[in-house]
Amino acid sequence: MSSSAKPIKTVAIIGSGLMGSGIAQVAAANGHQVTVVDQSQEIIDKASASIQKSLGRVVKKKFPDDPKAQQTYVADVMAHLSLQTDAIGAVKSADLVIEAIVENLDTKKSLFSTLDKAAPSHTIFASNTSSIPIKDIAAATSRLDRFGGLHFFNPVPVMKLVEVIRIPETSDETYSALEAFGKAVGKTTVQCKDTPGFIVNRLLVPYMMEAVRLVERGEATPRDVDTAMKLGAGYPMGPFELSDYVGLDTVKFIIDGWMEREPDNPLFSQSTLLNKLVEEKKLGVKSGEGFYSYD
Ligand code: CAA
Ligand code: NAD
Repeated sequence: MSSSAKPIKTVAIIGSGLMGSGIAQVAAANGHQVTVVDQSQEIIDKASASIQKSLGRVVKKKFPDDPKAQQTYVADVMAHLSLQTDAIGAVKSADLVIEAIVENLDTKKSLFSTLDKAAPSHTIFASNTSSIPIKDIAAATSRLDRFGGLHFFNPVPVMKLVEVIRIPETSDETYSALEAFGKAVGKTTVQCKDTPGFIVNRLLVPYMMEAVRLVERGEATPRDVDTAMKLGAGYPMGPFELSDYVGLDTVKFIIDGWMEREPDNPLFSQSTLLNKLVEEKKLGVKSGEGFYSYD
């Protein structure tokens, strides 16, 4: 980190879904004071339960056969976390705000525009967007030099990468602070430009969509494609399992956004099957059904 960059100690995370709760967990587990915000108490209670469940898996590995150490670790992480519905209150004392709400540009811009007025001037803003240009989101604020992308991967406690994205206006100091934060939460960081999908999703999402098109053409079943990619290419999940895991709504948001920007790129073309599943609210693991059914 450059000598003038202030180390990040307090973090506000807006959105407590799949990603927000995972980012909150790793930030708290690495000594940051974290406030997580969502829209209702019910959602927040669910996030708290999911963080505790995930911590349960972590401690089993970290302290096998030592229930006391397991309990102490979980209590310590939870003591670094507070969950609430007041976003304005949360950002007032934050060194870093990470947004992990729904993948929709207008919703993200409206949130950041409000937060920009409430946060102290030193506060750095970052989005965890999968696919929206960071510059389009940052345009809602007056702190372009203190804006960047921090793209985590699902499940956050397990996946070891964070993509750190800069826009032309991101200052070196901000970039260094974001990179240092990624490392401080135990991840390896890579530097990305503000291009569609950055590095990982630019390769992964067209692959997932190509798998759907292959099935739509009747060339194989989802189960066989998944088996093939796991056993033939060594992927931990096949593309259909992975799409269900990421969320079919998120996959659709990503591909729709890219198609709007590059309508002639065949890699970004639509899938009738994916659109139908999303319309039927079959969003994957989180809704109980997607390409597969989940109990
Ligand atoms: N919290 C804590 N620990 C977890 C966890 C969680 N949420 N999920 C899994 N784990 C741990 C388990 O406890 C287990 O630990 P041990 O090795 O100590 O037993 C380990 O991870 C493996 O888990 P499982 O045995 O349950 O299952 P698995 O071996 O099938 O692994 C997986 C699960 C890690 C998810 C693996 O299938 C995998 O890596 N899948 C691919 C995930 C991937 O590609 N993610 C990127 C998606 S794209 C994205 O995120 C970007 C985007 O913008 C859309
Ligand atoms: P999710 O649907 O699980 O969670 C989003 C949460 O944001 C919900 O709990 C919702 O109530 C909350 N929310 C929506 N608007 C809000 C607002 N104005 N204020 C506070 N909370 C609000 O979604 P997710 O999968 O966690 O994705 C979040 C972001 O992370 C998206 O931008 C997505 O593209 C990105 N992302 C997703 C993945 C993935 O695998 N799912 C991976 C990397 C990045």
